[in-house]
Amino acid sequence: MTAAPTASTRAGAPGEAAAPTAEEARVREFLERVIADGAAAMAGLCTSIGDRLGLWTAMAGAGPLTPAELAARTGLDERYLREWLDAQVAGEYLDYDPDRGSYLLTDERAAVLADPDAPTYAAGMFTMLQALYGSENALLEAFRTGEGVGWGEHGPALFEGTAKFFRPGYAAALVPEWLGAVDGMEERLQRGGRVADIGCGYGHSTVFMAEAYPASRFHGYDFHGPSVEAARSLAERSGLADRVEFDVATAQDYPGEGYDLVTFFDCLHDMSDPGGALRQTEHALADGGVCLLVEPNMSADVRENVHPIGRGMSAASVAVCLPSALAQPGPEALGNHAGEDVMRRIADGAGLHHWTLAAESPVNRVYAVTR
Ligand SMILES: C[S@@+](CC[C@H](N)C(=O)[O-])C[C@H]1O[C@@H](n2cnc3c(N)ncnc32)[C@H](O)[C@@H]1O
Repeated sequence: MTAAPTASTRAGAPGEAAAPTAEEARVREFLERVIADGAAAMAGLCTSIGDRLGLWTAMAGAGPLTPAELAARTGLDERYLREWLDAQVAGEYLDYDPDRGSYLLTDERAAVLADPDAPTYAAGMFTMLQALYGSENALLEAFRTGEGVGWGEHGPALFEGTAKFFRPGYAAALVPEWLGAVDGMEERLQRGGRVADIGCGYGHSTVFMAEAYPASRFHGYDFHGPSVEAARSLAERSGLADRVEFDVATAQDYPGEGYDLVTFFDCLHDMSDPGGALRQTEHALADGGVCLLVEPNMSADVRENVHPIGRGMSAASVAVCLPSALAQPGPEALGNHAGEDVMRRIADGAGLHHWTLAAESPVNRVYAVTR
């Protein structure tokens, strides 16, 4: 009996190309995946352009628009807009009607691309790309030397993009879910408490908390001066400057004592001395005060990070989180997926012995830590 031909043995008929071997088929399949990833990386620039020029917002709820109609709405160049619109059709972000020559942003896509206040808004993450790709040469050098690339050494699009990327998650969950999950914290802040938000960046987390608890006072600290400036201007615009202050300080030496709540949103792992930051926090907390640690929902077992969020976060760790810590004086270089056990040990060493998982989302894990 003759064995049936397999993909690796089947020969083509005379004049026909031979069928690919199994190995060739696997290479082809991976090649297609990498091309798709490269295409998405290139198209990300167009997504960012749409976000920063307000194109998604201009198209949201507008029905089908021709390039001339979009140009009239935005005051932008029609020829560029047509090219951008065509690119969005190729990426299936817009529908095209060949009869009218018009382009449509559907409502469900608008919910992701057009409204920075929607909990599903994700276009902000593309702002970071300019900075990340712009840091490539500095990262090449860092890989060679083992030195860091400090947070402030990246382009300003990183700071703005980080704020835009995290803001919708904080809007959706910080007050309604995360603080609600910490025993007694809502009551404490409703009565009037003191809060320090460490590594506050552009201050969205601080301002969301301040809006929810009008009897409480809030202080945001970050060692990055331009971010503190942006946070101050957010507090002014929000009419909260009388009880929300922002100052430049490191997490290891921020001032004040008697805080009911000290928060670290997605920043503890960026620090080379997270133990020093938590020791300072242990010292700064009031009796019964709580430290809220919000960290990426990433596993120390890299096989568990094989999903889009894990992929994006791991890449951010290479480009930003690890280099940020390596640029600071201190003993640790955690990256963003050191895992809960490592963080917990550091907290314990800093005198914060009680550790609970208060809440979880696909992006974040939220720990409430106390003495
Ligand atoms: C990923 S960003 C998060 C910013 C903000 N918490 C948010 O969620 O949008 C990390 C922040 O930590 C700050 N940071 C890093 N190391 C710090 C340190 N040792 N002391 C104070 N801030 C630090 C950076 O300046 C940056 O604003």
